[in-house]
Amino acid sequence: MSDPLDLKRVDHVRMFVGNARQSAYFYRNAFGFQVAAYAGLETGLRHEAAYVLRQGKITIVLASPLSGDHPEANRLIRHGDGVQTIALEVGDVPAAYEAAISRGAVSAAPPTSVEDDNGVYVSAQIRAYGDTTHTFVDRSRYRGVFAPGYRPLDADRYSPRTFHDVGLRAIDHIVANVEEGQMGAWVEYYGKVMGFSTLVSFDDKDISTEYSALMSKVVADGRGRIKFPINEPAKGKRRSQIEEFLSFYDGPGVQHIALATGDIVKSVRAMAANDVSFLKVPGSYYELLPERVGAIDEDITELAELGILVDRDDEGYLLQIFTKPVADRPTLFFEIIQRRGARSFGKGNFKALFESIEREQSRRGTL
Ligand code: FE2
Repeated sequence: MSDPLDLKRVDHVRMFVGNARQSAYFYRNAFGFQVAAYAGLETGLRHEAAYVLRQGKITIVLASPLSGDHPEANRLIRHGDGVQTIALEVGDVPAAYEAAISRGAVSAAPPTSVEDDNGVYVSAQIRAYGDTTHTFVDRSRYRGVFAPGYRPLDADRYSPRTFHDVGLRAIDHIVANVEEGQMGAWVEYYGKVMGFSTLVSFDDKDISTEYSALMSKVVADGRGRIKFPINEPAKGKRRSQIEEFLSFYDGPGVQHIALATGDIVKSVRAMAANDVSFLKVPGSYYELLPERVGAIDEDITELAELGILVDRDDEGYLLQIFTKPVADRPTLFFEIIQRRGARSFGKGNFKALFESIEREQSRRGTL
């Protein structure tokens, strides 16, 4: 398995949002993230405000422009809140960047070293689908809270409140929606540029309902630490959820981020109590469940109460649930996933889920 860029893991996901301060409050109180660091006017940053959220090994950065002159300001009008960059930790940023460019990547920013009292932070950026980028990060010589310009957040900035321990641990996978006919090109791109291989693919026979259909392939690094499913719409009777995304996001982008937990019942119970809205499937789903997935450790009544889905593959099973879109546009959402051996992505749930999404689309008048 080739590993031309020496990729280690997803370092963080940076989201560009309309109001980072308020989004941080949402992700803290609803998803259970710690708001760990801040950058903005008070730390010498003139053009944006940014908050670093942490939970387990997950780092999400929320950034907002402070004026219309911000180079990314237009992104908000065009896309709404969304993922700007998926940052990948590498051993050597200039080497990873040069290798990526020589293998066909398009540069978004050349390698830069930024130094402060806490050491040296090195990063570079290449373009990915749509306006999304990948940032290569080397923080091996940086001891600060996140990056130069960020400082640990004063815990009193938000009034202290005991929120539920949600228990999210890591980023499991990050899914892209691209235009019809483009999935193959992006699978090829990740293969060529990053040395990723295709794990699994689904076509519209696997994933179709009366109305919507999609095709999906999953690319992953050799160690299986970085997994990027890529979806494209397939022809259905009416507008698919992928087309709805592409229309409201105005182009390709990140559809969902899957966050892994060690105890999905606990995580979802806490998030639901924090008022996170999840997609629900009909009760009949749970009547058919024992026959479909066989014996599982969890209590099916409890799964049904919370709306948690189950799927099985050759290696084990997985439990998963999807939030409704987290902002106003029907674009980005989150998945909560617990793997019990299974390394797949819940193919057996697609039909039930898509029918659930279509009920939502119908309510939005976009089906
Ligand atoms: Fe997923």
